[in-house]
Amino acid sequence: MSTERKYRSEEWFQIGGLWGFLHRGWMKAEGFSDEVFTKPVIGIANSWSELNNCNAHFRQVADAVKRGVWMAGGFPLEFPTMSLGEPFMKPTTMLYRNLMAMEVEENIRANPMDGVVLLSGCDKTTPAMLMGAASADIPAMMVTGGPMLKGNWRGQELGSCTDCRRFYDELKAGTITDEEFAEIESCVSRSAGHCMVMGTASTMASLVEALGMTLPGCAAIPAPDARRYQLAEATGRRIVEFVKENIRPSDILTRKAFENAIRVNMAIGGSTNAIIHLVAIAGRVGIDLPLSLFDQLSRTTPWIANIKPSGKYLMEDLFYAGGIPAVMKELSPLLHLDALTVTGKTIGENIANARVYNRDLIVPLSEPLGPEGGTVILYGNLAPNGTVLKQTAASQDLLRHRGRAVVFKNEADMMARVDDPNLDVDENCVLVLQNAGPKGAPGMPEWGHLPIPRKLLQRGVRDMVRISDARMSGTAYGTVVLHVSPEAAVGGPLALVRDGDIIELDVPGRRLTLHVPDEELNRRRSEWQPPAPHATRGYVKIFLDHVLQAHEGVDFDFLRAVR
Ligand code: FES
Repeated sequence: MSTERKYRSEEWFQIGGLWGFLHRGWMKAEGFSDEVFTKPVIGIANSWSELNNCNAHFRQVADAVKRGVWMAGGFPLEFPTMSLGEPFMKPTTMLYRNLMAMEVEENIRANPMDGVVLLSGCDKTTPAMLMGAASADIPAMMVTGGPMLKGNWRGQELGSCTDCRRFYDELKAGTITDEEFAEIESCVSRSAGHCMVMGTASTMASLVEALGMTLPGCAAIPAPDARRYQLAEATGRRIVEFVKENIRPSDILTRKAFENAIRVNMAIGGSTNAIIHLVAIAGRVGIDLPLSLFDQLSRTTPWIANIKPSGKYLMEDLFYAGGIPAVMKELSPLLHLDALTVTGKTIGENIANARVYNRDLIVPLSEPLGPEGGTVILYGNLAPNGTVLKQTAASQDLLRHRGRAVVFKNEADMMARVDDPNLDVDENCVLVLQNAGPKGAPGMPEWGHLPIPRKLLQRGVRDMVRISDARMSGTAYGTVVLHVSPEAAVGGPLALVRDGDIIELDVPGRRLTLHVPDEELNRRRSEWQPPAPHATRGYVKIFLDHVLQAHEGVDFDFLRAVR
């Protein structure tokens, strides 16, 4: 096949003897002729599933990639992967991100592929595929599935699922009817594709583009738009060349690329979940991203993209405004423009001709929506290893707040009591959820957006300070302190909080303080008992035995790169 270098697939198809006979013969059983064995093999990892509406159009996307691969002289072979559908999987897709990453890695490693195109969409499918491909480290490109079309109800544009939450609170407060809520249900999600606010899926698609792992412009093209299929076809053409150039994820996923991605995350008001995923992806290529780096870059990256849940527009609008290339062009004084990408060119070359077409959506760097990035990192005696808050989606008057703790010991306790009319709570209290972290839940579900007690909703309260070791959906909003590390289930200080303790949140000072004397905390610590493990067998047992804490990316200890 090649006189320049040996391809992996030659070990299957270009060998003699019984195994060469069998490999070729079984491929021919699918109807392929000898002609295909002269071409580089391009795997297409497809996370299509009818149990994942966000990725429901991926068969057509895969067809477009295949077309491109054939055009460029490659041999495309599509294979299925797990699909982590956010709406359905219990207790949380995050429990399975690492399993999917392992599956993708081992599928690539075990099969005759010279390069791979990764089709991802819904939240965890993107980091899982990138983690697996980074560990396998053969030439890889990603095509994300694109956002859904904008929702619309009675003339109001709706974003999934920021507005689902907003209207549910209105329903509980009695300001809309059951009939209206049912009507909205049919109006929010109008097509395949991932959530179309800057939630986790849109954020991860944007960051994968910023990392240089997709063709430029990929993130924001709406899922049903013909240009997404054109981009998929172009990716199919490019991967064949890319394999010949032998550029690997480890060549692209450099420290500079991660710093670019963190800056873009800050500038777009991206999901808090992106911090966990970026730390995990970087860990696969041997790069440490301490939380302090996120805060350092947050302090020096203005917020410039006016997109829900932090702002007002949706991903489809971002596409018309110029997409992530236009955001990066605006941010370019802060970026490493020499970072390599899958085009074979640098980020700087890729965005050279990008333009901003909507100045209300992508504002000038000199006139930002906020002077700092979307997400900040807080430390203190309640979170010695750090905690995360999305300041662009928080209430400005709560960013400095002292309040009395109302503690729920786990999610079941919270659901049983939060709407109890007798719950001793007012709008100045701080709601605390324990045992919702990586080991505690398990899997660190998106329970961090604790519901506002119904009696307070009915009095007009729409936000309160909330603290947990859980995550929060990237589509959610509020003054919500997340990813407290170490988590309660391993004995972190969060486990020691009691009803009535005073907690102080100081976002400008980046502090989270539990005002309880050390002697009292030590006494409580001596009495603390770990919760019973959630499993004694199977995958969940592996998860519990090996999962790392939030500030380490919630990857498995044995999957991080060996230096
Ligand atoms: Fe898949 Fe929101 S449910 S991205």
